[in-house]
Amino acid sequence: MAQVRHFLTLQDLSPAELQAVLARASEMKQEHRAGRDQRQFPGAVLAMIFAKSSTRTRVSFEAGMAQLGGHAMFLSPNDTQLGRGEPVEDSARVISSMVDIVMIRTFGHDIVERFAAHSSVPVINALTDDFHPCQLLADMQTYQEHRGSIAGKTVCWVGDGNNMCQSYINAAERFDFQLRIACPPGYEPDAALLAQHADRAVVVHAPHEAAAGADLLVTDVWASMGQEDEQRERAAQFAPYQVNRELLAVAAPDALYMHCLPAHRGEEISAELMDAPDTVIWDEAENRLHAQKALMEFLLKANR
Ligand code: CP
Ligand code: NVA
Repeated sequence: MAQVRHFLTLQDLSPAELQAVLARASEMKQEHRAGRDQRQFPGAVLAMIFAKSSTRTRVSFEAGMAQLGGHAMFLSPNDTQLGRGEPVEDSARVISSMVDIVMIRTFGHDIVERFAAHSSVPVINALTDDFHPCQLLADMQTYQEHRGSIAGKTVCWVGDGNNMCQSYINAAERFDFQLRIACPPGYEPDAALLAQHADRAVVVHAPHEAAAGADLLVTDVWASMGQEDEQRERAAQFAPYQVNRELLAVAAPDALYMHCLPAHRGEEISAELMDAPDTVIWDEAENRLHAQKALMEFLLKANR
């Protein structure tokens, strides 16, 4: 069998493959809305390993696999020996011998890398401390559906240089856009990743400068899962980094704004923008379902 394809970062798929997945995601969305039968993988089993909380990721993967005709198995640390210290490598060998595809949400990015290295089936990164590539599929699908190609556009990241920000750096390279990052000093994304994509991504710090003329503003929580103890300190540092009507006013006239959710109204995004009737944030959340169905289809077919 050819080498197993995984999706640990956006860089695991070529730009052309990513475009094909997005096109298929939009197509599958229309099929789903038309009530078409999408059960093309009867009996397929998706193992969903969650070491962190989730609403969108769990519901979209579980519903998505059911719609594709398969079954999804939710595994929390309490349910598996992973939670009691069984090595990731041993768990990967065993779990992948019984299922067709695996999705993992965890802390260290090395955990998904080690799992994938010992897995005989495709592994999808459903968020690590470093990257959240599935969310980028949904975000890019949403931008394309509302505004067309993102190639050549300017995206402004507002907030923490976290897993989402780092996936936006990867996306800037894969989808051919420029990224300006407005974050408080000390909360920059990984320096090596920035250096690797220096032609695409730049830290600007000042939100109004970074957002000027941007086609898309994106933000995320100030304290990610695992950083709950830092919430108070971060709230003080991040106060000037809110996506609100005033910041949107300096962006391009047809700029969109996104948030992967869950959101904290009044912190990283104003309640007014969250609840605006024309926001695309709910489309962005729904597109997790369609984008990941297209991704699972791609990986399952590649692994046949
Ligand atoms: N955006 C996102 O991944 O949401 P959940 O944490 O609810 O899965
Ligand atoms: N940066 C956030 C994203 C949640 C979907 C976190 O890691 O908690």
